[in-house]
Amino acid sequence: MIRSIEGGAPQRGRFITVEGIDGAGKSTHVDALVERLRSAGAGVLATREPGGTPLAESLRELLLERPMDALSETLLVFAARRDHLQQQIAPALARGETVVCDRFTDATFAYQGGGRGFDRAILGQLEQWVHGELQPDLTLWFDLPAEMAAARRAAARSPDRFEQQDLDFFARVRAAYAERCAAAPQRFVRIDATPERAAVWQQIDAALVQRGW
Ligand code: TYD
Repeated sequence: MIRSIEGGAPQRGRFITVEGIDGAGKSTHVDALVERLRSAGAGVLATREPGGTPLAESLRELLLERPMDALSETLLVFAARRDHLQQQIAPALARGETVVCDRFTDATFAYQGGGRGFDRAILGQLEQWVHGELQPDLTLWFDLPAEMAAARRAAARSPDRFEQQDLDFFARVRAAYAERCAAAPQRFVRIDATPERAAVWQQIDAALVQRGW
């Protein structure tokens, strides 16, 4: 457990989340990010949502494969998040570890709020209910046009229930990410995900360097 410089209350670890529409290319960079933090000496919990615990991984399978309405989707996503927070994220942060989470609540605002049109005020209440004041310290948002993401997805494996959605859906998801970014500029860093891999990585590295990480 890390102590503050004054020797007072223990300091929690850093909480980093990675977001973006499907096809933004975040997965390869998440691995590099975790490697970069570990080689700098941090203990890192690398995890993802929906998922990260046996219960939440089971809920993920349902979410990605079974047809359901936006309310059911929202409730399952938050149920998975609740378990993940209690079992994994909160204990790791309390031990002073850095948590890198591939998607978190911003994805719910983007996909269920923007994509499905679900009531954002209710999402805000659920967010408050499930994780109170806990927010990521840094959110890397991989941003690119929906058309470009669709072209990248077409070259990849067979699509799940979300990846099958049309361009308008992903344009709404992207717009909702942009809103979340504008509402929390200290927490969000927008990563331009359109250039080739090395140029995207430079932006991620710069965001860490800027924070002295
Ligand atoms: P994703 O990170 O894209 O997994 P993979 O790279 O293996 O395809 O996440 C799976 C999907 O879950 C993604 O399409 C977005 C969706 N999702 C939501 O709709 N709401 C949420 O709150 C979260 C966390 C994810």
